[in-house]
Amino acid sequence: MELNIQSNISLKPFNTFGIEEKTNYLIEVNDNETLTEIFKQGLFTKNFFVLGAGSNVLFTKPFDGYIIRMTSKGIQSKVESDDVYVTAKAGEIWNDFVWHCIRNNYAGIENMALIPGTVGASPVQNIGAYGTELMYVFHSCEAFDTQLGTFKIFKKEDCDFSYRDSIFKTAHKGRFIITEVTYKLSLTPQINTSYGAIEAELLKENITTPSIADIATIVSKIRVEKLPDPSTVGNAGSFFKNPVIDADTFERLLGLYPTIPHYPMPGQQTKLAAGWLIEQCGWKGKDYGQAGVWKNQALVLINRQHASGQEIYDLSVQIINDVQDKFGITLEREVNLL
Ligand code: FAD
Ligand code: EPU
Repeated sequence: MELNIQSNISLKPFNTFGIEEKTNYLIEVNDNETLTEIFKQGLFTKNFFVLGAGSNVLFTKPFDGYIIRMTSKGIQSKVESDDVYVTAKAGEIWNDFVWHCIRNNYAGIENMALIPGTVGASPVQNIGAYGTELMYVFHSCEAFDTQLGTFKIFKKEDCDFSYRDSIFKTAHKGRFIITEVTYKLSLTPQINTSYGAIEAELLKENITTPSIADIATIVSKIRVEKLPDPSTVGNAGSFFKNPVIDADTFERLLGLYPTIPHYPMPGQQTKLAAGWLIEQCGWKGKDYGQAGVWKNQALVLINRQHASGQEIYDLSVQIINDVQDKFGITLEREVNLL
């Protein structure tokens, strides 16, 4: 098999920040044979990076190596009584997949409508939004081992899922390429309106018994109001994770800031809203050269037009320092830096 290796390629169309950097080489992967061929040619021993839709990455310099871009397509489903196992190839666009499921009345991912990116990336940071996370519907995935050249199945219990985290970001970082994901969905919807903003919209629109399509439509509406559209304003969603802190730290902060937004987590921990912390430091809506902080959501850093990745990175350092000084909390980046 011959590989189609493109050289000296601009990455601008392949990252939602719209950063202009180049890669030496780019290979599009439509099928598993291509991965086996890349392995045979020894290219996984060189510097490489797997890219889906580039909606959670920040390129801060030219990429010196091989970008492996996942573009494989295909969806299959198997019904077993009330459950449906839906398998999608890594390059399927997540939101298209969500709506494919909704059209077929497969319930469980409607609250995650309009999250940008691909199916293949969905387990990597255990994507989540509006009251749910991928781990609740993940069944298994197939992944290519770039060290051994073999395919392996990961079951849910193998993945170490937690808030914005999985084994693909920790112990196995950079080693496995997810080729397809199987989700366990349901033919009997369990409507989840636990996120306050969804309840408020349902009331406003006078919807008393929402369908899964209603939920996806409402979530999409809320998202469009809060988050910038990457096709007009470059961004990668939340730049930082919401910090999860222990009980003592929380008590200290609550004493100082009685209105601090917070959410209970397992193990006596508390999740704080990083957007609130950043807003309190005065960053919301602020420009920083060609970079900036989004006016409607302080957790989102933006490329105002011609920002370099380095400029956005520098802004993130300023924000981390300010939040550290004011609250004694160290923000962690959600976005993958390159
Ligand atoms: P990329 O950005 O291309 O890659 C992300 C990481 O996954 C990289 O480390 C990459 O190497 C790895 N990766 C990608 N594909 C594979 C693969 N097939 N196998 C192995 N590793 C792979 N995220 C949320 O969780 N919730 C949200 O609500 C949310 N909202 C967002 C809103 C906006 C406007 C934007 C721009 C982003 C948002 N994000 C959100 C972040 C982003 O949508 C997710 O992280 C998404 O899963 C990234 O998918 P991607 O295909 O673009 O991955
Ligand atoms: N807030 C502020 N100011 C801001 C932004 C937020 O005060 O500028 C406070 C408000 O109190 C608000 C609370 O933060 O009620 C929560 O805000 P929001 O509902 O917008 O959610 P978030 O915690 O900022 C998280 C995810 C998003 C996800 C939404 C909805 C993380 C890092 N981010 O944001 O995911 O869409 O919840 O579930 O967990 C992403 O990961 O890229 C992403 C966009």
